[in-house]
Amino acid sequence: MKTLINDIDHILLSEEKIHGRIAEIGAEIDSYYADRDTRVLLLGILKGSVVFMGDLMKNVKIPVEIDFMKVSSYGSGTTHGSINILLDLYRKDLSNTDIIIVEDIIDSGRTLSYLVDYLKLKGANSVKTVTLLDKPDRREVDFKPDWTGFVIPNEFVVGYGLDYDEKYRALPFIGVLKPEIYS
Ligand code: PRP
Repeated sequence: MKTLINDIDHILLSEEKIHGRIAEIGAEIDSYYADRDTRVLLLGILKGSVVFMGDLMKNVKIPVEIDFMKVSSYGSGTTHGSINILLDLYRKDLSNTDIIIVEDIIDSGRTLSYLVDYLKLKGANSVKTVTLLDKPDRREVDFKPDWTGFVIPNEFVVGYGLDYDEKYRALPFIGVLKPEIYS
């Protein structure tokens, strides 16, 4: 049987540890939005956020809606630092919607910094951010998420939605990739 486990140097965050932290974040989100009568929208950014999103939406007790956007940064044909919207959020009116952007990881901070401004301009009642992982050492713009699962060192991590060359997203933990795989 083919397996990707041999490409992993070590497990940084186990599934159990991740689940525990997501339960805590879910409770924090519940209490933050408890007294509102607005719509709360969990907005996942494809593709890395899908596993975290699936867990998070099961761990909030307040009623939430879900939706997705897809963006790309510094891809072929784009200027370094620019963000392209590949799949937009299509809603007629966001004035009664509190958006929580759901990300797997923040590196430079450019994606979330851009999206928060973009969704506010689209008329959202409020825009907050939650990320499973944060790598502050890689920050290029000043950005601080509202909720963070884990602050991690600047290592090449995969699993739990995160990929290298589109592989490893389905691994049920966050692992550090062996350097010989990507160098
Ligand atoms: C990753 C991640 C964030 C972004 C963070 O997405 O999911 O969206 O990069 O980087 P930044 O803080 O430097 O902007 P990626 O472009 O790898 O796409 P994917 O989610 O489909 O893997």
